[in-house]
Amino acid sequence: MKAIRYHHIGGPEVLRLEDVPEPELGPGEVRLQVHAAGVNFADTERRRGLYDTKVPLPRILGSEAAGVVRAVGPGVDEALLGRRVVTLTTSCYAEFVKAPASGLVALPDNVSFEVAAAVPVQGLTAYHLLNTVARVQQGQSVLVHAAAGGVGVLAVQLAKALGARVFGTVSSEAKARLVRELGADEVIRYDREDVVAEVHRRTGGGGVDLVLDAVGASTWGASLRVLAPFGHLVSYGSASGPPPAVDVEALYEKSLKVSAYWLHTPHPPGSHHRALESLIRDVADGRLRILIGLKLPLAEATEAHRRLEGRETVGKVVLTVAG
Ligand SMILES: NC(=O)c1ccc[n+]([C@@H]2O[C@H](COP(=O)([O-])OP(=O)(O)OC[C@H]3O[C@@H](n4cnc5c(N)ncnc54)[C@H](OP(=O)(O)O)[C@@H]3O)[C@@H](O)[C@H]2O)c1
Repeated sequence: MKAIRYHHIGGPEVLRLEDVPEPELGPGEVRLQVHAAGVNFADTERRRGLYDTKVPLPRILGSEAAGVVRAVGPGVDEALLGRRVVTLTTSCYAEFVKAPASGLVALPDNVSFEVAAAVPVQGLTAYHLLNTVARVQQGQSVLVHAAAGGVGVLAVQLAKALGARVFGTVSSEAKARLVRELGADEVIRYDREDVVAEVHRRTGGGGVDLVLDAVGASTWGASLRVLAPFGHLVSYGSASGPPPAVDVEALYEKSLKVSAYWLHTPHPPGSHHRALESLIRDVADGRLRILIGLKLPLAEATEAHRRLEGRETVGKVVLTVAG
């Protein structure tokens, strides 16, 4: 089968389309014919050697895929054959991928493979940040950095649906328009506006209850300063570089809370599956809009990475695989 692999750490050009064996199935696993694979910012960090570096090279990237079940391993119900599904798994920039049958979520007819492939990583991250980590309540205020990005556009919509007042930061006017269209109440151009001053101005000096920050180094100081008393800053990534060490002394004045979230921390059993089912249902019923900002064939993974890390994309980047 064809797959995108890299043999050494480097720029987007290290990604190569190669012939590799199809994955062998173990008990409880299925083989999917991949129709669409999601691209995530973390994939670019893996390729640059900044994250998740223990996996040996050569490596196939990709943590989510949507496709059709073509083979089942020992102990798996053959009724799954031919089903359209989506899942979190590994090595998805490929024509075929293996995945545990227990993690598959069936796709309603009105949800395309491309739309489905946009949901697992970024959807689950946005979902757990708001519901599991911060337990956002109606009437709270939530600031989402990089609000036009993959996680960002979903966090904005989910936070709105929970009844929050949503602030989004973005780096261009086109991104600002999009985030407003998705329901954000306040959009701040952090390329040219002072985020701290803007949040204080727009909250009457009060600040926000929650900040979701995956930008890291360049936003960290402002993220702490915009928090209201008893506010919560959740770090879940570092697109601009790692944030500084937490100074606990500095948290006392406003009784602040700083925490972190990682999708791959062991979650309560079934929690990812239930959340992914709920997200796919929301997509099918039109409650959650999936925005595919860039769609390219598998062979053009290099270009997908270049545009994603160059801050050129909005919403999701998807690689399409089979016809
Ligand atoms: N903790 C977890 O489990 C988890 C899961 C998924 C994703 N993440 C993290 O969440 C973040 C968003 O992921 P995503 O896949 O949805 O990506 P994305 O938001 O679509 O892309 C990254 C965005 O970050 C912003 N950015 C700010 N400074 C940047 C810089 N120096 N270089 C590049 N981008 C910069 C850009 O938006 P602007 O131009 O508008 O600033 C860019 O579009 C990433 O940091 C990722 O690692 C974490």
